Parts: sequence; C-alpha cells; structure tokens
Amino acid sequence: MERVKTGLIIDGKKISAEVRAELKNEVVYLIENKGITPGLAVVLVGENPASKVYVRNKTKACEEAGIRSFQHTLPEETTEAELVSLVEKLNNSPEVHGILVQLPLPAQIDDEKILELISPKKDVDGFHPYNMGRLMVGNPLLQPCTPFGIMRLLESTGIDPSGKEAVVIGRSNIVGKPMAMMLLRRNATVTICHSKTKDLAEKVRSADIVVAAIGRANFVKGDWIKEGAVVIDVGMNKLPDGKLTGDVDFEGASLKASHITPVPGGVGPMTIAMLLKNTVEAAKKAAGLI
Ligand code: GUN
Repeated sequence: MERVKTGLIIDGKKISAEVRAELKNEVVYLIENKGITPGLAVVLVGENPASKVYVRNKTKACEEAGIRSFQHTLPEETTEAELVSLVEKLNNSPEVHGILVQLPLPAQIDDEKILELISPKKDVDGFHPYNMGRLMVGNPLLQPCTPFGIMRLLESTGIDPSGKEAVVIGRSNIVGKPMAMMLLRRNATVTICHSKTKDLAEKVRSADIVVAAIGRANFVKGDWIKEGAVVIDVGMNKLPDGKLTGDVDFEGASLKASHITPVPGGVGPMTIAMLLKNTVEAAKKAAGLI
C-alpha cells in the first residue's frame, strides 16, 4: 500500500490559523495597552457573486481577530466619481488603517485609477504602484497578500530559497510578479513563465520550488516535478461537478514533491490571514509603533 510521505502536505488551514491566533493576541495588546483598534475598510461595488463571498469571508475574519471592519457595499451603477469620493474619505479617516477595494470593478470604473488613489500606507492589498515599487527595490512596506502568505508557507517547510531554482508560472500583478520579487529577495534564482513560454515542462523540471498561478485545472503534470521539489498551487478552478481543484495534478506531483499545498486548504486560507496581518502592521505604523 502506498504511504503518504511524512510532512508532504503543507497545511495552509493550520498555518493560517496560527497567524490569525498571533494577530488576535497582538490586537488585544494594541487595544488594551495602546488604545488602538486596527480597522479595515472593505469596499464592494456591484453584484459579482465570487466577490460577495470573498468580502463576507474577509469581514468575518476581521471580526474573529478583533479587527474593526467597515463594509461599504455600493450598487453596480456606481460612478467612478462616487467611488473616488469614498476612497478619499477612507484615506482621511483615522479609524481606518487598511482599505481594500474588491476587484474586479464594474466596466465604467478604471481599476488602476482607484488602486492608485488608495493611500499607500493603507494599501493592505499591496497593489499600489508605490508598494509594488518598494517590493521591487527590496524594501517593502505592504506586500500583496497571496505571495506574502506563500512565503510563510515556504518558511514552514524549513527550506531556505537561497540558491534554489524557483519557477513561477503566471505573471499577474496580484501573484506572479510580486511572488518572483519575494523569492528573489530570499536569494532564489527565479524564472517567470507564462502563456508564451517555450518548453514550460522543461523549465518546471529544473525547479526546486514551483509556484503555479495559471488558472487552469491540473495544468502542471506530475512528471514535470523534480524529485524533492516544493510545489505551491495557487489555482482555484471549479470543475463541472462543482469540485474545486488546483493548477497542479496533485496525485502525480505528490509522488515527486517533498512538500505540496493541497487545493482547497493550501494557499487560499493564507491570503486572508496576511490581509489581517497587513492591517495590523498598517495600524502599528500609523501609530508610530514600528
Ligand atoms: N479579487 C480577487 N482577489 C483579490 C484580492 O486579493 N484583492 C482584491 N482587492 N480583489 C481581489
């Protein structure tokens, strides 16, 4: 009978619960000793069903950690000027330490314009070009939550990225690009692959660390994985039967990998945990504590 290798599965649910428990203690300390209650404003525009679920989960996670949440739900036909005015109000509100505008926004609103309007000090998504630039120069202020969470998962394996070959598949501003910069900061040799990459399988075969953020179910095959590699699956693909699956053929990759994240229960739970972490960090910085 086949046996699951000890330590194979990177348990994102467990690690995110640890991060959230640490934050909960920190929030109690900030409230009781410093008179600061970290606050996160979450803005949802329109009726995107997935966005509604994400926003509900973010608000709930805030409450569980003792973080105050301010939810702003605006109708689908909201104008850009109306959203600009709300973001400006939140930028100026001392009770709000983090601002998250859930993407995608309706077509009449320019995403980039809104993201650039959010004060970089309150940009808990880390999507503002200022924060992207800070990460690129190796002196980050607030870092995008999903790759930030992945760095925490990598830490949990005890494997140091330094000198390792890392292959990131996907070049989005939300995951791929910041992921590459974070791995580079930890001295990995990073290759960013995308839809135009030639010989993707060969690139992956050389990787000690693989991060798959493609958005296609079971795209990365088990026989592409190098023996002993760490495999991080960012994919969240819904199959016709409603089941959630990642970008990596989990069964096949598990035979080769030393560590692998499952879907669900791997990267997903970390994103919200790091959002809470960024909010607490932003609150501490606003108060001059760090
Ligand atoms: N839409 C999908 N993922 C995200 C995210 O991490 N942040 C925001 N603001 N919108 C998203």
